[in-house]
Amino acid sequence: MSPSNSGPAHARWQRAEYRVDCDPAALDLALIHRFLSEHSYWARGIPRALVERALANSLCFGLFDEHRQLGFARVISDCATFAWLADVFVVDQARGRGLGKWLVECVLAHPQLQALRRFMLVTRDAHGLYAGHGFSVPEVPANLMAIVKTDLYSASEDGMR
Ligand SMILES: CC(C)(COP(=O)(O)OP(=O)(O)OC[C@H]1O[C@@H](n2cnc3c(N)ncnc32)[C@H](O)[C@@H]1OP(=O)(O)O)[C@@H](O)C(=O)NCCC(=O)NCCS
Repeated sequence: MSPSNSGPAHARWQRAEYRVDCDPAALDLALIHRFLSEHSYWARGIPRALVERALANSLCFGLFDEHRQLGFARVISDCATFAWLADVFVVDQARGRGLGKWLVECVLAHPQLQALRRFMLVTRDAHGLYAGHGFSVPEVPANLMAIVKTDLYSASEDGMR
């Protein structure tokens, strides 16, 4: 599934009235920060400045209709061998229309994310969404290691955000 535009511009896909767009300038930062800090189970309380820094250093995918942003995903990658998919969401009012599946499809179709040796993510309960796109539970989970700080943002003071 090639992007609808070609050349050096940011990748973009169109499906009926919906659009997935990798142009960072199109992103609604307030919406992304609100979802992550108030509604996500993985980044609750994250300060806006951290979201901005994370996005600035990621390949971002905004999901839009003609009027506003409806969803988001971002990829951290060397664009050669490895990628990490993070912060995937579709706003409540737009769920159940296949948009989440399409968003992941667009991520995997991005020209800079082809032929990677490993594409990873963490999910609490959306395995079915990703399994449909080829992700699977690692054969040997014990081979994976991580440093995880789950309570990092809940500990921040308001003045530090
Ligand atoms: C997960 C999410 C992005 C799915 O978006 P969506 O637009 O409603 O999804 P779709 O309509 O494309 O359908 C998703 C498919 O994945 C499946 N699925 C599996 N686990 C799911 C889950 N936890 N939540 C939603 N769908 C899930 C659905 O059953 C559906 O498959 P089907 O069409 O065969 O029934 C959306 O529910 C969301 O933003 N949830 C809150 C944030 C979140 O949990 N993000 C994922 C973090 S890993």
